[in-house]
Amino acid sequence: MGRRAGSAQQEGIFSDMVAATGSTEREGWSSRSAFILAAIGAAVGLGNVWRFPTLAGENGGGAFVLFYVACVFLLGLPLVISEIFLGRTGQDDAVGSIRKVAERSGASKNWSAFGVMGVVAAFLIVSFYSVVAGWVLYYVGVMGADFASAVLSGDPLRGALVGQSQEAIQGRMGDLFGNPGLLLAMHFAFMGVTLFIVARGIGSGIETAATILMPMFFVLLVGITIYGAFVGNMGDAVAFLFTPDWSKLDPPAMNTALGQALFSLSLGVAGLITYGSYIKGPAGLGPTSVTIAFADTGVALLAGLMIFPIVFAVGLDPAAGPTLVFQTLPFAFQTMPAGALIGLLFFLLILVAAVTSSISLLEVPTAWGIGEMGWSRLTSSLVFGGGAFLVGIACLLGYNVWSEVRPLGFWSLFAEKDILDTVDDFTGKIMLPLGAFFTAVFVGWRADRKLVQEMTGLSGFWLSTWRFLIAWLCPLAVGTILITGLFPQVLGS
Ligand code: PHE
Repeated sequence: MGRRAGSAQQEGIFSDMVAATGSTEREGWSSRSAFILAAIGAAVGLGNVWRFPTLAGENGGGAFVLFYVACVFLLGLPLVISEIFLGRTGQDDAVGSIRKVAERSGASKNWSAFGVMGVVAAFLIVSFYSVVAGWVLYYVGVMGADFASAVLSGDPLRGALVGQSQEAIQGRMGDLFGNPGLLLAMHFAFMGVTLFIVARGIGSGIETAATILMPMFFVLLVGITIYGAFVGNMGDAVAFLFTPDWSKLDPPAMNTALGQALFSLSLGVAGLITYGSYIKGPAGLGPTSVTIAFADTGVALLAGLMIFPIVFAVGLDPAAGPTLVFQTLPFAFQTMPAGALIGLLFFLLILVAAVTSSISLLEVPTAWGIGEMGWSRLTSSLVFGGGAFLVGIACLLGYNVWSEVRPLGFWSLFAEKDILDTVDDFTGKIMLPLGAFFTAVFVGWRADRKLVQEMTGLSGFWLSTWRFLIAWLCPLAVGTILITGLFPQVLGS
């Protein structure tokens, strides 16, 4: 409350207010750029540096990438504006914010139900997100130990994991998955860091973390991309990522691209509603949202330009799937100059990106506990961080002791899925599109138009374009992802 310690009169008013409402003033970002940095930190995560290159590789590159970019700007961007609008206007946790906008618009309070779904989705996502980030942490350890031994042997610029066969390097992941204790330790450490930051609050926790980690992330990203351009095969990577072969863009690939755009921009789980609710001043939501969407997409593309030149340089398979980053790349670093060092920096970069996203995920239920249940921040973050930790344990046991378990095995869509994949797919294919769909319908059709205009700061051409996209294109397109995701037979696949 340091900033408020101004005049006695002001303090008097403040304590009256506290007495009247029974609560102290809600936390907030220190500036607009702090919000933008934190929101970019939320958006840029495993989705950009792990999932996007994986999906681009699996879906044939070019056409998928261009379609993805179209999804980001035609569907994602209007939704980013809408979510921040809800939070900025409501000044409350996600559920409370939607309720307040509904009240001010004369709409039913029941709309806040989609906020509840977002809170649940964020909680579920952070539980498995922390497990995957735990794998990254493990590789930071492996590469860190390798680099340390390179330094000690007097050859700090040697390749990574020298003397180890490709099988041995790729086998590490299987070893990790077969070791529940190790998986648990990594998950515990990552969730612990996430919880620690969220428990410290918006200013000294989340904002501070973003201010330190995001610049670090960008330096690493640009640095490793430049490295890849020199030692790798940039020409093939650019051709792969940007030459469209439209025949590869079948409906399932379009579906995947749309879902990935939502996930990467952190949409549909009330993340931006929650972060937006800590904006105090005027928001200018158009430019703010454009910045976030550009940064997120730029990072995904740069991550592709960082990873594929290295993959192609050693003739590896770009379509390796989810293990691309964990199994393919460490081997590629073996023959590259300074591979030990770059390999370590590469996994550190992914870890940094994961932290700034997982804190935004945990903040969603934490804010809900504070706003709706009246808990303190510490209690709320412990309840949800602890709860997500437990759900995450089930996910990681699904790789070893519970490897036979198929939680939604009765449902054909999830019949083959282990625990982590079930939670991932259930949130990604169902809850997230559903959240985005209701956000679009609510903001596009039910929210008071004057309020929307005033709070978004949009006008003229941009306002009408945004209105068209949010009221028509988003519900239609996102509704289509949802239906085709739920009933793949519709696509005949
Ligand atoms: N956008 C994050 C990523 O790309 C994931 C995320 C989803 C974060 C939803 C917050 C909310 O990794």
